[in-house]
Amino acid sequence: MDPNNFHIVAIDGGAAAGKSSTSRAISQRFHFMHVDTGSFYRAVTRKLLDADVDPKDSDAVTAGLDALALGTTLSDSTASITLNGWTPDDSIRSQIVNDNVSQFAAIPSLRAFLLDYQRSQVEVAKENGFRGLVMEGRDIGSVIFPDADLRLFLFADPEKRAQRRAKEGIADSIEKRDKLDSSRKTAPLQCPEGATFLDTSDLSLEEVVERVSELITEIAAAQ
Ligand code: DC
Repeated sequence: MDPNNFHIVAIDGGAAAGKSSTSRAISQRFHFMHVDTGSFYRAVTRKLLDADVDPKDSDAVTAGLDALALGTTLSDSTASITLNGWTPDDSIRSQIVNDNVSQFAAIPSLRAFLLDYQRSQVEVAKENGFRGLVMEGRDIGSVIFPDADLRLFLFADPEKRAQRRAKEGIADSIEKRDKLDSSRKTAPLQCPEGATFLDTSDLSLEEVVERVSELITEIAAAQ
């Protein structure tokens, strides 16, 4: 891989499809900065819930967002959002956030609030000497980086995904969230046209990482 080239890998997929484990492993292997955009939506949801913002009240959402100053903190190779200096903790994975995040993530003004911030992570990665960026979410290959070097869509059947979450000891409304995330008007969860669809249902994490690594190596060699 040419060290002078900076690569962007977009990984989308439903809840518990294996995006985070895969992205983290890829970031380690290729020295790419890892960004989990789901944690951005979770962190903003946490803050708006704390401020008693009703997702149906657009003025309240606007006021809530206006009160949030965005920043970034880097821990190893993962970049995290900060909101008014607060670094998200485990509370963004709580049941109340799981139950509300899709409703907040469907709000166009909230998505617009995070759009440029997500794109600006390229500069953070470059400034910190990373050779690329691996960003996971729902609309990375469709909206945030439609020109990414590699756009992947990870799929896993619902039973396998429920098993994965149970193994992590997490209660999650996977199917409900996927339904809401796929049916919203703005940036719905879908496999972007031209993206590589990877069914991970019967693959181990190592097998998925191997396959994705091959794709990155092929693309980098062709550039
Ligand atoms: O990746 P996750 O399950 O932690 O994401 C939490 C929620 O955030 C997900 O249900 C939908 C929303 N999300 C989104 O709308 N767009 C993204 N790029 C990432 C997450």
